[in-house]
Amino acid sequence: MSEPSSRAKNTILALRGARPTILPSLLLCDFANLEREVRLLEEAGTVCLHLDVMDGHFVPNLTYGMPIVSALRKITKLTLDVHLMISDPSQYAPQFVDAGADAITFHIEALPEPSALLTKLQSQGAAAGLAINPSTPFESILPFVPQCDLVLAMSVDAGFGGQPFNPVALERLAHLRKAAGPDLLLEVDGGVNDSTIHQCVSSGADLLVVGSAIFRQADYGQAMTRLRRVMQA
Ligand code: DX5
Ligand code: ZN
Repeated sequence: MSEPSSRAKNTILALRGARPTILPSLLLCDFANLEREVRLLEEAGTVCLHLDVMDGHFVPNLTYGMPIVSALRKITKLTLDVHLMISDPSQYAPQFVDAGADAITFHIEALPEPSALLTKLQSQGAAAGLAINPSTPFESILPFVPQCDLVLAMSVDAGFGGQPFNPVALERLAHLRKAAGPDLLLEVDGGVNDSTIHQCVSSGADLLVVGSAIFRQADYGQAMTRLRRVMQA
């Protein structure tokens, strides 16, 4: 087992090396066949899985917790990116790193003073960052961006898959790319599909989270190939 700091460094370098890359969001996957879903995504060239954790309080929807992350950790070497949509990230985020998460984002709306938790997660060996909803003033995260390994600009209000893309995320990505330089990993999540993915990458996004545009398609591999083609066009 390597030092925590080198584990985080490896995650960051792997994600930087792959960018731009599509992160399938398991929110809409077939949970009765989770291992099969992971194998299909591996075969389709996935580098990193996006795991949406919702607590029914921070957002009006409930998904899953640490047991799913540790189960996935046992069956795949893919990078696991955990998006915490929960009211108390300080209490639970470290447990997700223990369960095998490689990268974690939590919401600035849930923890307006996030420095201590970012430091804690990084010291555990995770890449750590902040997520922000479209309606939250952008200024709220700016002081903390230098501490982040990644920033997640939401392009829908967190909570549900299948919502339309909010272009405010594009302005935010472009601003962050300009202000923070090339090293910061920029992630976008919500309504990313064939029509919106190209603009996301042009605005600076590295990590493109995609739910329905993969999981509501018959063939995940074909959907990812098409998205990659549009993304890089
Ligand atoms: C929404 C989640 C997303 C969601 C994306 O709160 O954070 O990861 O699964 O799904 P689509 O791509 O359908 O908007
Ligand atoms: Zn997400």
